[in-house]
Order: sequence, then structure tokens, then C-alpha cells
Amino acid sequence: MDKKKILSWLSERVPIDPESLRHFGSEPVPNHLKHWWWALGGTPAYFFFVQVVTGILLSFYYTPHTDTAYESVKNITENVPYGWYIRSVHMWSSNFMIVTVILHMMRVFFTGSYRKPREINWMIGVGLLITTFIFGFTGYSLVFEQLSYWGLTVAANITEATPFIGQMMADFIRAGSTITEKTISRIFILHIGVLPTLMIMLIIAHLGLIRLLGVTEFTFTPEEKKLTFPFFPNHILSEMAIGTTLMFIVTILAIIFPAELHDKANPLVTPPHIKPEWYFYFTFRWLKLTSLTFAVLSMGFFVFILFLWPFIDAWLRRKKPNSEISMAIGVVTVIILITLTLWELFVLHYSH
Ligand code: HEM
Repeated sequence: MDKKKILSWLSERVPIDPESLRHFGSEPVPNHLKHWWWALGGTPAYFFFVQVVTGILLSFYYTPHTDTAYESVKNITENVPYGWYIRSVHMWSSNFMIVTVILHMMRVFFTGSYRKPREINWMIGVGLLITTFIFGFTGYSLVFEQLSYWGLTVAANITEATPFIGQMMADFIRAGSTITEKTISRIFILHIGVLPTLMIMLIIAHLGLIRLLGVTEFTFTPEEKKLTFPFFPNHILSEMAIGTTLMFIVTILAIIFPAELHDKANPLVTPPHIKPEWYFYFTFRWLKLTSLTFAVLSMGFFVFILFLWPFIDAWLRRKKPNSEISMAIGVVTVIILITLTLWELFVLHYSH
């Protein structure tokens, strides 16, 4: 069969004009997106793809039940061919996804790219950030080792401290008023069903708005003004080159520092140091510095401010048109978050 025949067979059944498809794909992208820092949003999207592929492979062997979860992770790590590698890539890629989401968000923040008309996309972005964090938390719980169990216990207690809805939310996470055999399958459904669906919907909305609005245009030199390059194939090819390089780095890390497996969850033995993943260290430190209720309320308030930030910033700029107050707030917030994270890191790892 020749190519023409196949194409005409296909075009009768899928009546899309190839020219319009080419036009759709080769959208001109401003030149500054040639630099990774400016096009960072593609990187968490790539890591999410890696998570989906490795996650599906892991779920072939993982059994979401209190009695078997830990043993199935042990089996993946020790017996399943390349299981250790897939598990380690899943672990490293999740960390990279979190780092790159945060870097992308900082790029958007410090270049003011959330401003009119992109306020809604910033809010969708905050949804993506929270979903990424919950992904990390639920994944950590699924291993069902000591820190998973006690981390989950602490997280549920923190959730319980939320006024009005806390009890309901904590019962929802645990699938009951305590951690039971139902808990792991609840967390599993959240991790492999609810969160991926939510993430995909949010990514579609995020990218859809970017396609409709275009990215914010920046020019750094007069010659660069209005220079563009096509999204397909140029941008896609450079994204693929970045993806390949990152997979190389993740593989090296997976070989040198493979995902570990510590003691199995034991509800009767509290470990000396309960610690969450590093990206929750700042909340942990904040909790230790303040009281439970205050920490929960203030963190809720922080997320609320983050969500509404483009409107708060617009209001601040109306009040003081030429001040850099918004950027100053950003810098101070980043410094506080890094300080709290490093403080907790130091206390957990070096102070005993
Ligand atoms: C899984 C998470 C995310 C993915 C896959 C993603 C993807 C992208 C991509 C591909 C772009 C195009 C330009 C670029 O690459 O920088 C972009 C732009 C944007 N993102 Fe994200 N993003 C994510 C999270 C976030 C977060 C956490 C925020 C902020 C809270 C955010 C806010 C924005 C905004 C406002 C733009 C427009 C920037 C501009 O016009 O220059 N995104 N995102």
C-alpha cells in the first residue's frame, strides 16, 4: 500500500486537514523560551509523564493492603527484574518534579508573568503545585514502612486540627477514624486514580490557557524583539533533548542512591524521629515553632494568599505604582521557606 492511499483512507475516517494540524503545531514561540529557565514548565510535565509510566509498571506488582503492601515493595526492590530501577526512577523523578515545579513557579513569580490576563492560569498553577505535593505524600505512605505509617499519623492529626472540616478530612484520608487495613487502599486510589485525573485535567487547562493567551513576551536586546521560533518541531525537540539529559541524570542517581526500604510499619513502636519528605520540612518546622491550630490556620492562610496573589499584587501596584513591594514579598517568603526547611533538615539529620 502506498503512502497516498493510506493517507486518503485515513482522511476519510479522521477528517482533519493536515495543513491545519501543521499550523496548530507550529505556533510561533517567543525567542526567550529557548532558555531553559524561561521554559521550565515543560520539565515538570516531562517528569509527570515519567511518573505515569513508572507508576503503571510499579502497580503491576504493588498490592495495596496493610498486610502485603510492604512485602510487595520489598519484592519489587529485591526480586522483580529491574524493579529496583523502576522504583528508584519513580522516587527520583518525583523529587525532580517537585523541584522543577517550584523553580517554574519562581520564574513565573519573579518575572511577574502571573499578571493580567494570566491570573487564572496562576490559580490553576497553585492547584498543580498542591496536587504535586499530595502526590508525594500519598506515594510516601504507600511504602508502609515505619516513616510512612508515622508520617501518615502525624499528617492526619494535623488535618484533624483544621476547624470545622478537619475531622471529616482526616477520616476521609484514613478511610476511618484510625489507620486500619482500609487506609492503604484509600491512599492507593488517591495516588493512582484521583490525583492523576486531577493532574491531567489541570495540565490540560493550564496548557490550553497558555495556547490561547501565549506566553508573556520578554525581550532582552533590541534585535531580539519579535523574534520567534516554531513550537513544532524546534521547541518539542529541545524539550526532548532536555528530557533525555534528565533521564540520564535520574538513572545515575538511581544507580548510586537507589530507593531504600526501612523497617515495616509498626503501630506499637514510635520511631525516634518522625520525618516527612524534605518538601514538607518547612511545615514541620513551623508546626514545632507554633501551636498545632495556629500552624494549620496560618498555612491555610498562606495557601489562600498564594492562590489570590495576582489580585493582591494588582491591588498593591495600584496603591504604590512604582514600588517593588510584590517582588520584595516574594524574596522574603522564599528566604523564610528556605530557612525553615534548612532548620528542620539540620535538626533531623545533624543534631543528635
Ligand atoms: C505540573 C505542574 C506544571 C506544569 C506541567 C506547568 C506547565 C507550564 C508550561 C509548559 C508553561 C509554558 C511556559 C513555561 O514553560 O514556563 C507554563 C506557564 C505558566 N505557568 Fe505553569 N506549570 C505547572 C505548574 C505551575 C505552577 C505551580 C504555577 C504557579 C503557581 C504556574 C503558573 C504558570 C503561569 C502563570 C504561566 C504563564 C507564564 C508566561 O506567560 O510566561 N504553573 N506552565
